[in-house]
Amino acid sequence: MSSSKSAPRLAVAIMAAGKGTRLKSKHPKVLFEVGGRSLLSHVIAAASQVVAPGDIFAIIGHEAHRVREAVGSTGVNFVLQADQKGTGHAVMCARQALKGYDQVLVLSGDAPLLTPETICRIRDFHLRHGGAMTLLSTDFADPTGYGRIIRRKKKSGKPTDEVAQIVEEKQLAASQKKITEINAGMYAFAARKLFANLDKLRTDNPHHEYYLTDIAEVLNKAGEKVMAYKTADAHEVAGANTRAEMAELDREMRERKCTELMAAGVTIFKPETCLIDTTVSVGTDTIIEPFVQLLGATRIGSDCRIRSYSVITDCELADGVTVRQGCVMEKSTVASGAVLGPYSHVRPQTEIGPECHVGNFVETKKTKMGRGSKANHLTYLGDAVIGENVNVGAGTITCNYDGVHKHTTTIEDGAFIGSDSTLVAPVKIGRGAYVGAAACITEDVPEDALAIARARQIVKEGWAKKKREEITAKKGGR
Ligand code: UD1
Ligand code: CA
Repeated sequence: MSSSKSAPRLAVAIMAAGKGTRLKSKHPKVLFEVGGRSLLSHVIAAASQVVAPGDIFAIIGHEAHRVREAVGSTGVNFVLQADQKGTGHAVMCARQALKGYDQVLVLSGDAPLLTPETICRIRDFHLRHGGAMTLLSTDFADPTGYGRIIRRKKKSGKPTDEVAQIVEEKQLAASQKKITEINAGMYAFAARKLFANLDKLRTDNPHHEYYLTDIAEVLNKAGEKVMAYKTADAHEVAGANTRAEMAELDREMRERKCTELMAAGVTIFKPETCLIDTTVSVGTDTIIEPFVQLLGATRIGSDCRIRSYSVITDCELADGVTVRQGCVMEKSTVASGAVLGPYSHVRPQTEIGPECHVGNFVETKKTKMGRGSKANHLTYLGDAVIGENVNVGAGTITCNYDGVHKHTTTIEDGAFIGSDSTLVAPVKIGRGAYVGAAACITEDVPEDALAIARARQIVKEGWAKKKREEITAKKGGR
């Protein structure tokens, strides 16, 4: 037993075992994504701001292995609820795991807008009032579908801070339907009191489940104090039970993200058309045009311009980078002052150096470009190591794949690759060398050399005229 004076040991349990029947999906509900990451990731991220991951317990069940895999890297613990017999049953399954704690916060894995600040406020309210249970509530103009809060009343009939019971939508009496105070599905419990009473839950309800919400009445009857902490921030508690609700939450989060970025000095034109994940960072005075997507761990510096229809995933862009229209970029880095696009395809492990130009219909993969190098048109650069100030002519192809292995093409500083060349790797073009247009380079080109690797031109004087005359003569003869 802990002494009442030392800080209480606090755990967070996140209910995430449900199937999400209303989504009509084969995927578990808590792995649905809003704002660029799963519902459960959002809740874990918020909880991790309040307690250490080692004190967080995700209660998983439906497709448990997938959920575990998806969020395992966060370092939280997992509790298995093999059969999902309701939210009350979920907490029953966590009893063993939570027994060393004094206080337990129970959150829903499908309510991703909850902030760490609100979690702290419920916790503090709960500890201050010393109740057995504190639930988070709010007023909804349309409370349909949510559990409703029935307050205890004074003799005068005036409602108090305390809660008599929570009534689920399907069990509401006609007179209770107009109650707008709803149960957000987030609770704080004195652990000992919770577990001393949890087994009193019954399944005499339309779903034949153990409702965690019934614990309010159970505790009340046991003479324990149940309180509601009401928040004015109604949208923070919104749950995602249907795809329409997911879309609404997603929209809301993206809007929040854009607003946050704009407040921090980023210009966004038509922010309602942009998709920016909550995990993305953007520096000041960067301009983001309509219909841009910035996803995953993308970090963009200051003074960049990201033009319309570009989709950038897990990339790092330094300051002053221009990404013209329609670029697709993934897991790559771009140094300052580089210009990309329109329509460049920058695939993983590309490192574009400062002041480089990567132009239209240029595809790069696992390629490093040194300062000031240019590949402006219609080119494939795969497994290439390119020095500084290299000019890669239009239509250059690195032939990096022999059907079994990938090979490296090295192009040293100041080299010039004529248009329509194929560089058959492994191959090296030395510093300052020239490759004449339309070459098929299969051997290394030494420093400062010129390589010509194409058939010599043949000119046949008058040939075309003669041919035309022949054809005309044949036609006339018929
Ligand atoms: C629940 C509350 C309701 C509240 C609403 C707020 C109950 C009975 N009702 O309803 O009062 O207004 O949340 O959003 O609790 N889960 C499990 N195991 C189970 C069942 C559910 O882990 O056996 C998880 C789900 O994955 C989900 C969370 O618990 O993350 C809530 O379950 P859900 O079925 O969405 O409850 P609601 O109907 O939304
Ligand atoms: Ca829900």
